[in-house]
Amino acid sequence: MTHSPDPIAGLDLTDQAALGSGASFWTTKPIGTVPAIMLTDGPHGVRRQSGSATDHLGISGSEPATCFPPAVGLSQTWDPELVERVGQALGEESRALGVQVLLGPGVNIKRDPRCGRNFEYFSEDPLLSGALGAAWVRGVQSRGVGASLKHFAANNAEHDRMRASSDIDLRTLREIYLRSFEIVVRQAHPWTVMCSYNRINGVYAAENAWLLTTVLRDEWGFDGVVVSDWGAVADRPAAVAAGLDLEMPTTGGISDAEVVRAVRAGNLDAAAVTRAAGRVAQLVGRVTQTDTSAASFDIDVHHELAREAARRAIVLLKNEGDLLPLAPAPLAVIGGFAEEPRYQGGGSSHVNPTRVDVPLDEIRRLAGDQPVRFCSGTDTAAAAAAAESAETAIVFLGLTADEESEGYDREHIDLPTAQLDLLRAVVEVQPRTVAVLAHGGAVCLDAVAALAPAILDGALLGQAGGGALADVLFGVANPSGRLAETVPQRLQDSPAYLNFPSESGHTVYGERMFVGYRWYDSREIPVTFPFGHGLSYTRFDYSDLDLTSTGAGVAVRVTVTNTGDRPGREVVQVYAGLPDSHVGRPMQWLAGFASVTIEPGHRQIIEIPIERTDLAYWSVDAGRWVVEAGEYAVSVGASSRDIRLTATVALDGDEPTRPFTRESTLGELLADPVASQKILSALSDASPFGAGDSALGTNLLRMLESVPIGRMVAFSAGKVTHEQLDALIVDINTQRC
Ligand code: BGC
Repeated sequence: MTHSPDPIAGLDLTDQAALGSGASFWTTKPIGTVPAIMLTDGPHGVRRQSGSATDHLGISGSEPATCFPPAVGLSQTWDPELVERVGQALGEESRALGVQVLLGPGVNIKRDPRCGRNFEYFSEDPLLSGALGAAWVRGVQSRGVGASLKHFAANNAEHDRMRASSDIDLRTLREIYLRSFEIVVRQAHPWTVMCSYNRINGVYAAENAWLLTTVLRDEWGFDGVVVSDWGAVADRPAAVAAGLDLEMPTTGGISDAEVVRAVRAGNLDAAAVTRAAGRVAQLVGRVTQTDTSAASFDIDVHHELAREAARRAIVLLKNEGDLLPLAPAPLAVIGGFAEEPRYQGGGSSHVNPTRVDVPLDEIRRLAGDQPVRFCSGTDTAAAAAAAESAETAIVFLGLTADEESEGYDREHIDLPTAQLDLLRAVVEVQPRTVAVLAHGGAVCLDAVAALAPAILDGALLGQAGGGALADVLFGVANPSGRLAETVPQRLQDSPAYLNFPSESGHTVYGERMFVGYRWYDSREIPVTFPFGHGLSYTRFDYSDLDLTSTGAGVAVRVTVTNTGDRPGREVVQVYAGLPDSHVGRPMQWLAGFASVTIEPGHRQIIEIPIERTDLAYWSVDAGRWVVEAGEYAVSVGASSRDIRLTATVALDGDEPTRPFTRESTLGELLADPVASQKILSALSDASPFGAGDSALGTNLLRMLESVPIGRMVAFSAGKVTHEQLDALIVDINTQRC
């Protein structure tokens, strides 16, 4: 398709406004030489609806497409390379189905386990979310299809999602809730970003000029289209002024007319409309570069990729006495999810799969000639009898589709009582019991962990999850998945417990940046399974941790040895901390990760770079990321609570040198090497408190630390004048330059 160099040059205001809103539920308008394009959900499969069956709640059907593991499963791979390949496949399917923009990935942070949509998000950690989101975008866009990074921003609950304000302090917003988006925008350059429904500190995301223009474009260099979430625009002229380019879905032309009227009334700059139209035209140019007339995809190849991703997503939470992998022996398979698997979540991301692997069938296939008895579990006595007569019982547990979905949050995080009763009855007669879990949001697992000697966590695995589970149960695949979210012992322990959901239209992010393991680890709260946890059928040892300070950050080297008897993949996690930080910081945070596959008896040196930004905090005073000078503790381990080695590295800081003023406190001056000398001698000379040197002991100084130096004039009772103080401040500032 060819476009004139400036496709909007000849368009009048009405046409330009028309380009900025949808023609239908899923398409833009063809205007002038700019053709229409189709945008569709996402993220873990293509939800391409046809005809009049259109909705964004997953109600009506859609064309068959591969259902890959939703983000909750994909994140447990900790594998950007694999996620990128899934993205490529999604891009191919989009092209084959005539879709130009796929609405994903979702990189919102899992702030609270009750959020109904957590299954669509990657993690409680921004670095992991960002790395996986960037890989997804790279994959999709490599096939000429646009990604739509969503939901920008601070959309961490479903309750009142179209009105509530996420009230967050700036530092937390930058370090946690914007950080995953920043990583994706800077690393992978998505062609669109979807602004969220909610308000942020009182301002709708769609009308938030600071968010959509100052941060997204001016700071991060985003050069694509900001599209609204479906129905997120309350005031289109205000949204266009703030930086929204495309409102979706169609408003039947109503909001186009509002834009035109606002310009004519002098309430909206015409240049903003032209800018938005230009960006939509540029997006259309980008996504129509590739010829898609002969595009198709191989259903079998993509199903195999979905199985590979699902295999890698499964987390072996517990494996007492090496119960797994299974040896050939009679089995009892119990629970309805073995026959009708739960493999995706409800709402706009709902995919019509090309096929679905049934776990029971796949287990039977790998069990060969060994008998496999199945019980749905509704009759507990029958299930216990089947379990008792088998060598091992496999019990499928989890949340049903109606217990969690887009559109509403959960009120608790417990598994249904009937399921725990079933597990208890089975374990009583069959000590060799494996629990297999399906769920989109985190569930309390204390009871399961106390009962079952082995637990496989599948979260949501997509259409090929059944085969993948069988592969792991029988050891065809060695599990290497890791939790991307902490499993707390109790909901009451979770960071946002008292501030969730919103109240009177406001959600107070009172726990600040202490989200997920940042909270549990800093407060030393016992958890059932920590962030990053996941076992293997082999074992890995860590040795020779070496840290080198580089200009760009820290180079981490560590040797990992496979000390077991089968090949395996280890996800090596690097956590950083700064015990002497002068700002409040988590005890540790994820600063890097890498994975490696090692043959038994072999070792490998892993190199993981930590970037300086991943050691920095957002300084509200300086308005930028700041690395504090100091001794950073850098640890490597197999989870946030399974730290194997720790070393320290000294880094130079880049804290801003701000001139002192009368408002600077005595403490701030004393913390500065130049100022402290001057101030100590000035204090003792002037002796403003009528005391000699000896009285200026540590305690007195500590008591005075918070006093602004300007107030010393009054405290000195005439001994120090404003002029003398100002001269001292000038002297100090001059010497520090
Ligand atoms: C969801 C988005 C989705 C859109 C289109 C909205 O309700 O929040 O994630 O992309 O609908 O279906």
